[in-house]
Amino acid sequence: MINLENKVVVITGGCGFLGSTFVKAVLEHNGRVVIADLDKEAGNRLLLTLAESGVSQDRILFSETSINNIHSVERLIEETHLKFGKIDALLNNAHPRNSNYSKVLDESSYDAFCENLTNHLGGYFLCMQQFSKYFVKQGFGNIISMSSIYGVVAPRFDIYEEADFTMPVDYAPIKSGITHLTKYFARYYKNKNLRFNCISPGGVFNNQHPSFVEKYNRYGTNKGMLNPEDLCGTLLFLLSDLSEYINGQNIVVDDGWSL
Ligand SMILES: NC(=O)c1ccc[n+]([C@@H]2O[C@H](COP(=O)([O-])OP(=O)(O)OC[C@H]3O[C@@H](n4cnc5c(N)ncnc54)[C@H](O)[C@@H]3O)[C@@H](O)[C@H]2O)c1
Repeated sequence: MINLENKVVVITGGCGFLGSTFVKAVLEHNGRVVIADLDKEAGNRLLLTLAESGVSQDRILFSETSINNIHSVERLIEETHLKFGKIDALLNNAHPRNSNYSKVLDESSYDAFCENLTNHLGGYFLCMQQFSKYFVKQGFGNIISMSSIYGVVAPRFDIYEEADFTMPVDYAPIKSGITHLTKYFARYYKNKNLRFNCISPGGVFNNQHPSFVEKYNRYGTNKGMLNPEDLCGTLLFLLSDLSEYINGQNIVVDDGWSL
């Protein structure tokens, strides 16, 4: 079993759908976690659930953070350092999006498109930049960013025909941008004992429209839509020393959906 004992992992968007599963997975594998999220109420609820399940306060911290504000990201690094004395890894996992997010291409606007790119891709860049500075001083560091199969392949629009959402146009450049940013950082920080990788999940089941789920699943090789737990093995591997020499990579976890 992978053991993350003594590893300190900061998870942005740690209160969200995938983030809260990742927080629990790191704790279950003996790591220590900083939940960095805009949503303080969700953070308090998650802290309560974790305390009820017996997680010691020594192993966990909630930091109210915006990945779009440099002072907030600097504070997150300071708070984490103050509590744990080091940071082993950052998981870039927040999901900023505006109210125009799920509009079809013809209805999306220039301003909404730019805002989503700024907040999501820009926020991932800001966290990578600020944590990298800390990691260089510290002498080691590991950054994992959540990308998506939609940063790798074009959308299959037919699967959304009866659904009440679509694959938004801004998501494609955001996620392919995150994948390439990862390569850029990996090469820029050559010889600094830092590494940067991405995970590109396929669709994760979250009570989507049944017609969407049925059509989506036709393209899977064994399962189709994933559960959040299906991503944890790859995350834990990338957080562990077993993946020490994996750098600049994008690991697609999608049950072969993007083949
Ligand atoms: N859910 C999926 O099917 C899926 C598939 C592929 C990739 N992903 C990626 O996984 C990541 C997590 O997705 P999710 O579905 O869990 O999202 P989610 O919306 O459930 O959770 C996102 C979290 O980010 C927080 N957040 C939003 N803006 C923030 C900001 N500016 N600063 C800090 N925190 C902020 C929210 O409060 C929320 O807790 C994203 O990068 C997403 O693109 C998700």
